[in-house]
Amino acid sequence: MTTSSLESTTDPTRSDPAPAITVSALTKRFGRRVAVDSASFTVPAGSVTGLVGPNGAGKTTLLAILLGLVRPTSGEATVRGASIDDPASYVSEVGALIETPAFHPAVSARTNLRSLAALTPGAAITDSDIEDLLSLVGLNDRGGDRVGSYSLGMKQRLGIAAALLGDPSVVLLDEPTNGLDPVGMQEVREIIGAVAARGCTVLVSSHLLSELEQVCDWLVVLRRGGLLYQGPLADLTVGDAILQIAPADPADIDRLATAAAEFGRPVTNRADALDIAVDDDGDAEGFAAEISRAAYRSGIVLRELHLERPDLHRRYLDLVGDPA
Ligand SMILES: Nc1ncnc2c1ncn2[C@@H]1O[C@H](COP(=O)(O)OP(=O)(O)O)[C@@H](O)[C@H]1O
Ligand SMILES: [Mg+2]
Repeated sequence: MTTSSLESTTDPTRSDPAPAITVSALTKRFGRRVAVDSASFTVPAGSVTGLVGPNGAGKTTLLAILLGLVRPTSGEATVRGASIDDPASYVSEVGALIETPAFHPAVSARTNLRSLAALTPGAAITDSDIEDLLSLVGLNDRGGDRVGSYSLGMKQRLGIAAALLGDPSVVLLDEPTNGLDPVGMQEVREIIGAVAARGCTVLVSSHLLSELEQVCDWLVVLRRGGLLYQGPLADLTVGDAILQIAPADPADIDRLATAAAEFGRPVTNRADALDIAVDDDGDAEGFAAEISRAAYRSGIVLRELHLERPDLHRRYLDLVGDPA
């Protein structure tokens, strides 16, 4: 195992503040096409980080750069403190599932993993390690079956087991839920959770935020190679809540707008109702009660008082735009 100089002075556990991956002004051009466009972000050590963005956003290219399979046009990146200019210095710390993994269909999952284990650098992988991995991905009962008889979901799970050979501390998974049915997706999410519980940092991509939101604690959003957002998943929902109010008597709408405007928050008049932007770190319920009291004092009866909170998926779609 290699320990980066960044981590040698601190406790190398999940709470380690040193990022597992840093990406700095990273650009990759294929001819005139820009696949990754000056992207900068960090992946916290011990996190499950979702790398999300529509098809063509640059996710696979970025993961391939981190693995040393593709050379960036410019910019820098580090994995566990080591530069991607020298992939050999960290490759034994990184496991990856990129594209569909190639397994021999005629032999068992167990035999496939044993063959891959023999090729894994710097690690003595025992049969019992392989049994542990098969059981982690839920294939212990089927580990003796020919891989050719496996479903797509089973192949994906075997691919994750292969990525975990040699006990890497960083695991890169490219769209592991793609093409799976809801049960298969849930199985993959559970495995990702179990991998993270072992102390691994997981960077996992998807073109659909909904496939990852239950398992991620950190999010990196790309579109056309550029970074749109990075930060805690929960922070993506931060934004103004909207309080929607409507008077029982439509003739009261202007008086209601005047009363609402006194609170100093932006008010939008939608003909028969008002939208009031509520401060994102304010007390939205308390504000709703104050508006209700103000309407009452003005002799206005409300037929609607509704608080609409910012929605994760709306925010994501606002960020990436129309994926089409
Ligand atoms: N080897 C390549 N040669 C030329 N263009 C490429 C190559 N790999 C990726 N691209 C282009 O780079 C962009 C990003 O692709 P990719 O990283 O596969 O995105 P994602 O994985 O998010 O769908 C796309 O426009 C794609 O066509
Ligand atoms: Mg891809």
